[in-house]
Amino acid sequence: MLILAHRGASADAPENTLLAFEKAMAMQVDGIEIDVHAVADEILVIHDRWLKRTTKTHGQLSDYTLEQLRELDAGMGQKIPTLWETMQCINGQCLLNIELKGISDLLPVVKLIDRAVDELNFELHQFLISSFNHHLLFEVKQLRPDIQIGALTSSSPLDYAAFAQQLDAYSINIDMDCLTSAFVNDAKQRGLQVYVFTVDEIADLDVLAKMGVDGVFTNTPDKAMVRRAHKFE
Ligand code: G3P
Ligand code: MG
Repeated sequence: MLILAHRGASADAPENTLLAFEKAMAMQVDGIEIDVHAVADEILVIHDRWLKRTTKTHGQLSDYTLEQLRELDAGMGQKIPTLWETMQCINGQCLLNIELKGISDLLPVVKLIDRAVDELNFELHQFLISSFNHHLLFEVKQLRPDIQIGALTSSSPLDYAAFAQQLDAYSINIDMDCLTSAFVNDAKQRGLQVYVFTVDEIADLDVLAKMGVDGVFTNTPDKAMVRRAHKFE
């Protein structure tokens, strides 16, 4: 079962910062999940459109210039990183799951992935683009069929994983509260990977491993790595 650091090692460092990514890599995680928004000509790595929770700042991303946003403190003196800075930091040392939040034009993200494959130590299969917006994922596949996509869901549809197969997704990234064994089995039959968020309780890891889940997003990857090393229970 893959261990994916949710927003980096976000229990140990401010989420979606280079420090959180460095800490996650030091834990030898299999992958890191990040959230991205487009701002001006840049792609910024940040979860919320509103700035209060992560930077203690009034207003939202669109109220500020890129320069102003880059001055903000994202916690422990960290700045809001760009997607390119994040790619340079991770540099192919583990998988990178880019979750599209405030993005409507996919081209800049795809271009950065290509650049990372050309100029850094990444291979294309180390990237996974995910979103709750399945129309966007459909566009990614139209644009670049060779980029892996993860269909995010916080629901359990009647026809289980059919929507993800229809999208030609690599994985279904599903909320733990919506997951059942029937869903996992259906996804497997359709050749889909099943990744589950957000799993911070050790007991849940054990249950998911038994269900045959392929990966978990966790804020506490260090604990999950130790549990996996002991082969779960
Ligand atoms: O990608 C898994 C998870 O990050 C989705 O929800 O709100 O934490 O981005 P959220
Ligand atoms: Mg996310």
